[in-house]
Amino acid sequence: MDKESKIVKLKSDEKCSICTCGKSKNLPYCDNEHKKLNEEKGTSYKSLKIIPKSDVELKLYCSNWDSESS
Ligand code: FES
Repeated sequence: MDKESKIVKLKSDEKCSICTCGKSKNLPYCDNEHKKLNEEKGTSYKSLKIIPKSDVELKLYCSNWDSESS
């Protein structure tokens, strides 16, 4: 699991959208590629929105990030 984990540094009160579909060209951030995937595959992916209350560094993992299947 660790090899696909991503470290993100977020600032207080700054909204961040994290990709959950694995298709973003800017992982771990959402670039709205999920909309195309949802249209093509009938899925309902959405980004995970995070608004931290203080500056924070997070280690994130999503099983779809290393998946080539869709
Ligand atoms: S691009 Fe993957 S959730 Fe938006």
